[in-house]
Amino acid sequence: MVKIKNKLVSHRVNDLTINQFVSVPGDKSISHRSMILGGIADGITKVSGFLESGDCLATMKAMQSMGVEITKENDEYLVHGVGKHGLKAPENGQIDCGNSGTGMRLLAGVLAAQRFDSTVFGDVSLNSRPMTRITKPLEMMGAKVKATENGTAPLKFSAVENLTSIDYDSPIASAQVKSCVLLAGLYSDGEVSLTEPKLSRDHTENMLRGFGVELTSNNLKVTMQGGQSLKAIDIIVPADISSSAFFMVLACLLPNSQITFKNLCVNPSRTGVISILQLMGADISFTNETTTAGEKIADVVVRSSNLHGIEVPHQYIASAIDEFPILFIAAALAKGETRLTNAMELRKKESDRITAMYDGMKTLGVDCHELEDGIVIKGGLKLKGGQVDAEDDHRIAMSFLIAGQFASDSIEVDNCENIMTSFPNFLSICSGLGLNIS
Ligand code: S3P
Repeated sequence: MVKIKNKLVSHRVNDLTINQFVSVPGDKSISHRSMILGGIADGITKVSGFLESGDCLATMKAMQSMGVEITKENDEYLVHGVGKHGLKAPENGQIDCGNSGTGMRLLAGVLAAQRFDSTVFGDVSLNSRPMTRITKPLEMMGAKVKATENGTAPLKFSAVENLTSIDYDSPIASAQVKSCVLLAGLYSDGEVSLTEPKLSRDHTENMLRGFGVELTSNNLKVTMQGGQSLKAIDIIVPADISSSAFFMVLACLLPNSQITFKNLCVNPSRTGVISILQLMGADISFTNETTTAGEKIADVVVRSSNLHGIEVPHQYIASAIDEFPILFIAAALAKGETRLTNAMELRKKESDRITAMYDGMKTLGVDCHELEDGIVIKGGLKLKGGQVDAEDDHRIAMSFLIAGQFASDSIEVDNCENIMTSFPNFLSICSGLGLNIS
């Protein structure tokens, strides 16, 4: 894998138009889950289209360190499931989740229920992200877990025999919290249910059903009988809508352009970015729609359009949660004001994404101001060039690199290396589209 440099410079290419098909790599959320669920299933789970990024490879390594054999044949991974009770203690009891909140919070659900001790930790960013959101429900289920005084990782788990039932009212719409509770729930001796304030992505529910687990989703409540086991399946990971979002915004903003994204996962709990762009005036349509393993897939066609500012409806926040950095760039280049509120969760991601984007956009001359739970962006001014800091956050880095195409001078982006965590071939797709990033 080619390493991505920590400093990248994005230069405007004059008169660029694009008319192309783009295949972005596999969905990150589904890739993580394929390794974890495959690892605790009975039998061999075949995974094609797995996202070979830093985050997902860390989760794969975590499962391998607990005795799950994972081999690769051609482009397919074979996860030799050891069954729910077949995991072994990892070497020296430690699991490194790197930069990945999903990896850590989902693995925590499994580790909390094991008959061995373990510790999960991550990099500086991950070790500063909030973990009481998962330790609280896990403790309610009888897990023995210790976070730091600040409620952060490393998380230390002590062995337990099994977990108990829970009916949890989650204060946040978070698929990571929901998935953690459901995974722990597989080891519970009773009924497990969780209600969330808004629907977060539901890949765990879809995939558990695929692995033969019975669960019901009723509005915002998911309920499952504990103790069920998983049967191996074949998984085809569709393309990641979150990675495509950078190029969706590019296609909207460039004149006379069209990009068609092949085989995109358009699960309605993930398409907030499309709904928001459409409200801003984007021309986006679906073709070749199908459903595979409970996930809606389509080719998505995005054409040039004149974007305008909007008040972002709260109903789309959870389903666009990872796409706000690039949506802020769209808003900065759109006509009129965009206002986002009720998006406090953006401050809890790989960086504080409200402040990181605000700081960079200010440098580029964008008229914007921060709110405690969002941002107001007055779009329409031409972007200046300048030096911005991606703060080791992959999505901040990619957003400012796309912005470089629309700035009067080059944009230098520092601390970009973590693009590898979610989108290792981002730069080669950029150059294939004619963008100039050096
Ligand atoms: C993810 C859930 C989201 C998202 C993350 C992936 C998942 O986090 O931001 O990139 O795969 O479950 P939250 O559940 O914390 O919102």
